[in-house]
Formats: sequence, structure tokens, C-alpha cells
Amino acid sequence: MAGKVMHAVQYSKYGGGAAGLKHVEVPIPTPKNGEVLIKIEATALNPIDWKVQKGVMRPFMPKKFPFIPATDVAGEVVEVGAGVTKFKAGDKVVANGGGGLAEYAVAKQSLTVGRPPEISAADAAGLPIAGLTAYQALQTAGIKLDGSGNEVNVLITAASGGVGHYAVQLAKLGNTFVTATCGARNIEFVKSLGADEVLDYKTPEGAALKSPSGKKYDVVIHCTSGIPWSTFESNLSPNGKVIDMSPNAGTMWTYAKKKITLSKKQLVLLMASPSSEKLEYLVQLMKDGKLKTVIDSKHPLSKAEEAWTKSIESHATGKIIVEP
Ligand SMILES: NC(=O)c1ccc[n+]([C@@H]2O[C@H](COP(=O)([O-])OP(=O)(O)OC[C@H]3O[C@@H](n4cnc5c(N)ncnc54)[C@H](OP(=O)(O)O)[C@@H]3O)[C@@H](O)[C@H]2O)c1
Repeated sequence: MAGKVMHAVQYSKYGGGAAGLKHVEVPIPTPKNGEVLIKIEATALNPIDWKVQKGVMRPFMPKKFPFIPATDVAGEVVEVGAGVTKFKAGDKVVANGGGGLAEYAVAKQSLTVGRPPEISAADAAGLPIAGLTAYQALQTAGIKLDGSGNEVNVLITAASGGVGHYAVQLAKLGNTFVTATCGARNIEFVKSLGADEVLDYKTPEGAALKSPSGKKYDVVIHCTSGIPWSTFESNLSPNGKVIDMSPNAGTMWTYAKKKITLSKKQLVLLMASPSSEKLEYLVQLMKDGKLKTVIDSKHPLSKAEEAWTKSIESHATGKIIVEP
């Protein structure tokens, strides 16, 4: 592909939201040692993509400008770099790569997984960040997805979102009773994913996180932000844990306090880490019909700004997909 150009969407400075995205023609990247070049069929957006644009990971990310955002891609391998043994041109894959708002992207072989023909590119693209985060939250909670172990009462907040909708499905593979929160329009949807009871987060009971059946939560998989610790505390079982994936200054302070005071009720901060073994496991669950991606909307790369705006608005049901 050397010397050929592709369409891509990039930004050149922090901030600017969708208006900061620019459509460009740039050289198709060349896979380096241990990398594969993927012709993208679908890219899934995650909040981290626009948060990086806002500067939350400054000065570590982006490493340089201009920057083509989005990490979660699915497509076909068209070229492999030196040292790549697992993949060859023509293989269908899903990967945690980078530069996903483009026609082609490179990904490390070590973060790329084969995609069986029965799984569409859009369905697979949802998994690398959102699926893995949900899975790692359940692992952190000690919930076994083979259904073994004592029953665990789990609360999943924002169960209609990218992470939450996978978390509900995965939690129900374990021995769990799942209470979930979402907006009124998504209550039936979240029940259809397997939740045992659902709270509308805009009602007083929902805002208070009170289980309709009176459960105390052993684990909270907290997929949104802005809920104070005091609201969780009264709803937790004596050794209950809140697994928080969007920490801010307030939650860091609570985390430190709970540690220092040796509190039995703990706040756990989760930072998902990419893993091909775990991604392979999720792909297998999907192939076996035990896990699905719900797609909020699909947007052509030529209208990537629409997808970007939708992600920033934080009202997606499932995953937002961009297709070249
Ligand atoms: N630490 C990590 O490694 C990691 C990894 C992935 C994600 N995250 C973070 O996890 C969070 C969730 O990510 P995501 O991809 O799931 O986001 P998302 O898909 O944008 O979430 C959108 C969903 O959240 C619902 N929602 C918003 N506020 C809510 C509330 N207070 N109560 C209940 N539901 C609410 C919305 O419902 P309505 O439309 O009805 O409002 C919508 O369905 C983000 O902050 C993200 O940055 C962290």
C-alpha cells in the first residue's frame, strides 16, 4: 500500500468537539514490526475518544498532532509487518488499534483477534474497549461467568450504554441478581438484556438507587458518573464494592478515605487494559450467541462528525458505529 492515500478524519489541537474534526487524504499507514494493516469495515466510538480530544490525557495522548482518533476497529487484514505470524492478508479481524476514523488502520498483532464469519464487523467493533471494560469489571468483582459461586447482587448503572449493555449480559452468565438503571425509554430494552429489575434513573427511587425488591448490592458496576458515595453506601451489603470506571477528584478522595479507614465497603477504580485473550473470549461468547452488540446508530465516515456529536451527548443505546 506504500504511496497510496486514504480518506481519514483527524484533529489538530485539543478541544473543538465535532467542529474540530477535519476530513483529509493521508498516506495509508505501513505496518511496522509485529503490526497488521486493516482495511476498516467498522469502527466503534467510545467516550475516551472525545475525552482525549478534550485533553483529559494531556500530555500523554495524543502523542502528536494531527491525530486520527478511535481505537476499536474491525475489518480485513490487507498487509502484515515483519514478525507477524498469527495473521495473513484476507483474515477478518477485530482489534484495539488506533486511527479508526479512516479507511485503513494499523494494529499490533498482540491486540488483534480473528473474527468468525458469523460476527459482523460492526458487532465485533463494539467489543475492544466497551466489552473488555464490562468483562474486567465482572472479573474485578469476582463473578464467574460459568454460573458457579454464590449468588451476587449486582447493580449496573447506565445499563443502556456501551459498557453497561455488555455488563448486564455478561453478569447474567454468572450467578447474579441484576438491578440496572437507565432512562425510561430503555427500561424494556435493559430487561431484554437479562436485568432482573430496572430503575429509571430520573425517578426519586432511581436516583436513590433503591432496589425494588429490597436487595443490598454486593457489587456496583458504575458506568456513569455524578452519583455521590453516600447514595451508594446505604444500598451496599456489608462488604459491598463500587467499581468506578470514570473517576474524578471526588471519587479519588473517597477511594483514599475508604482505604485509609479500612472500610469494609470499598470503592474500586477500574482502568481497563487491552488483552487479546479476553477479547478472544468475548468474540467466542458472541459466536456462541451468549453476547450481542446492540447498535445505537451507524454513520458513514463522510459524516463522522454526527457520530462524534452523538457520543459526546452521551445518550446512546449501545454502540455508535462509523463505517467507511
Ligand atoms: N476506565 C475505563 O477503562 C473505561 C472504559 C470504558 C468506558 N469508561 C467510561 O465509562 C463511562 C460509560 O461509557 P459508555 O461507553 O458506556 O458510555 P455511553 O455509551 O456514552 O453511555 C450512554 C448511556 O448512559 C446512560 N446514562 C447517562 N447518565 C445516566 C445516569 N445517571 N443513570 C443511568 N444511565 C445514564 C444514557 O441513557 P439516557 O440516554 O437515557 O440518558 C445512555 O444510554 C464513560 O464515562 C466512559 O468514559 C471507562
